[in-house]
Amino acid sequence: MNDTNNLSIELNSSFPRKREQLLNILHYMQDKHGYISKVSMQAIGNHIKMPVSEIYGTVTSYSEFKIKKPADKQLKICTGISCINQGNQNLIDAIKSNHSIHVNLFENGPINKIDIEEIDCGFICGVGPMIQINQTMHGRIEINTLKELLPELFENEQ
Ligand code: FES
Repeated sequence: MNDTNNLSIELNSSFPRKREQLLNILHYMQDKHGYISKVSMQAIGNHIKMPVSEIYGTVTSYSEFKIKKPADKQLKICTGISCINQGNQNLIDAIKSNHSIHVNLFENGPINKIDIEEIDCGFICGVGPMIQINQTMHGRIEINTLKELLPELFENEQ
């Protein structure tokens, strides 16, 4: 059985075949698979009789839905004003310098199987700069702590 058949069975057993189910299904897929693949969009389209282009439009309108398979680890760096004032740029510069990155770090793509994303505020502003690794938040992060938590980001260091 292929991926599309498996997804169709999964959708049939969990969701009514109604267009109004689109967001529920997308949240389910995002939580379960970590992203919404092209194959998932086709299966969803078949299930609720909606064109894939419409589903793609919805998926790309919401920042919580991803269309690319996530890397092994996710690093989020807060770029909110409190974290800026508490030195988040040192973290960003240290990673960029270690990998000779000259573009915006957040547009660079994964580094050593780590997706790096910026977030506007992690809501622990008093203990910035903050980062999140997968589901865990860390506050008052300094470069040495980041090196201990994610040594893969600093493997080029002499
Ligand atoms: S600004 Fe960084 S946690 Fe709020």
